[in-house]
Amino acid sequence: MAGVATIILAAGKGTRMKSRLPKVLHRVCGKPMVDHVLDAAAALGAERQVVVIGYGGEEVKTVLGERCMYAWQTEQLGTGHAVLQAEKLFLDYEGTVMVLCGDTPLLTIELLENLISEHRKSKNTATILTAFMADPTGYGRIIRSTEGFVHKIVEQKDADVEELTVREINTGIYCFESTELFPALYRVTANNVQGEYYLTDVIGLLVQDGKQVGAYMSTDATQTMGVNSRTQLAEAEVILRDRIRLSWMEAGVTLMDPASIYIDRDVSIEQDTVIYPQTWLEGKTVIGRDCVIGPQVHIADSSVGENVHLFFAHVKESCIGNNVNVGPFVNLRPGTQLADNVRVGNFVEVKNSQVGIGSKLPHLSYIGDTTIGSHVNIGSGTITVNYDGKHKNRTIIEDDAFIGCNSNLVAPVTIGHGAYVAAGSTITKNVPPAALGVARARQSNIEGWTQRNKGDNE
Ligand code: UD1
Ligand code: CA
Repeated sequence: MAGVATIILAAGKGTRMKSRLPKVLHRVCGKPMVDHVLDAAAALGAERQVVVIGYGGEEVKTVLGERCMYAWQTEQLGTGHAVLQAEKLFLDYEGTVMVLCGDTPLLTIELLENLISEHRKSKNTATILTAFMADPTGYGRIIRSTEGFVHKIVEQKDADVEELTVREINTGIYCFESTELFPALYRVTANNVQGEYYLTDVIGLLVQDGKQVGAYMSTDATQTMGVNSRTQLAEAEVILRDRIRLSWMEAGVTLMDPASIYIDRDVSIEQDTVIYPQTWLEGKTVIGRDCVIGPQVHIADSSVGENVHLFFAHVKESCIGNNVNVGPFVNLRPGTQLADNVRVGNFVEVKNSQVGIGSKLPHLSYIGDTTIGSHVNIGSGTITVNYDGKHKNRTIIEDDAFIGCNSNLVAPVTIGHGAYVAAGSTITKNVPPAALGVARARQSNIEGWTQRNKGDNE
């Protein structure tokens, strides 16, 4: 959007969180709070986006990367002081600056757009986004004149008894004309209970100067909720989780018992997929159409194709093709790639391995650091012995191979195209294509043994 820039305040420690992690990096629906705010600001198409960092600033930079510019606030002297640290990035800028806080993860782009249009329509120098709260505890209060004009903002800790009864609160989001904002910030003092330079004092100063200051009231107070404590973090999580569930149901995904299904903000799901109870979809997970996921499936940072059935399974950093069947009680660990039409059955663990088209791992196996071709059958109880105590070694099982039950494949080893491994073998040498590898003691039967030993146990 032309003529609009954003400043997100994210330098505070967030003392009330009682955490080593900077407050704005605490996650809501799998994503750091400040990341949600930056997403909303980015959706506005602002001309420049600045994040003010301080406490844990390097960590914040690592999370947000190159998506914005940074201003450092080395000492956290208050929100007004924080905005002032960004001034040098706005010396050549004339336009609207929207200031947001990094601890309001529930914002929507529509709300920010409405604030900007109100600011422009009213030709204001400053417009505050306000909300009406049944319980305004902790927020700055909007103090209006008897005619109803915005007069100033008073912080909870500085408010008198009458001011505390006001239930219109400052959401911490504002639009300012840049040419008026920065000069006014230099006039803010730290004369208050907290001894901080409050951004909110700019409002009173601009009003005193006779500038036009307005407020735009959000009709949905949940969107502007600020998170200061772990309790509020949990409240924000509940609200956003619900919103995410509703949006997927509206997009054509069936959720059975929605309250028991947890879907992170950056997950995507295609139409006609059905999700059963007690399922967690986390991180940047992508799920195709016509899948049946759950009950009790946990998928993190993975992609799942179309028409996949996953039940009672844990899947992490893996990639699953189309028409794949996984479960129950399966653990797909990072680096697993299942091609189309693969079947992974009960009590199977796969790690850092590729499984080719149509191959089957139906029961009780450990497959690690292995390349399996297409149409391979892995017998029950097959173990790839991938670790010799020092190194991880690879196993290669070529197309159409057949591994008999209860085999150990001691890596590095290759089972050739169409080869067979006899059940119960411990394979330490390559099996050539089309050969049968047998590596077990030959069976001998001792005739009459039972008869001769009769009486021993009596
Ligand atoms: C602030 C507002 C309050 C408003 C509330 C809305 C002020 C003085 N008060 O209060 O009117 O109702 O937000 O949620 O602005 N920050 C810095 N540097 C600092 C201090 C804070 O970058 O020196 C950042 C924090 O990281 C946070 C944001 O500014 O993201 C808000 O700070 P916080 O301490 O949470 O302010 P509140 O007390 O909630
Ligand atoms: Ca806050």
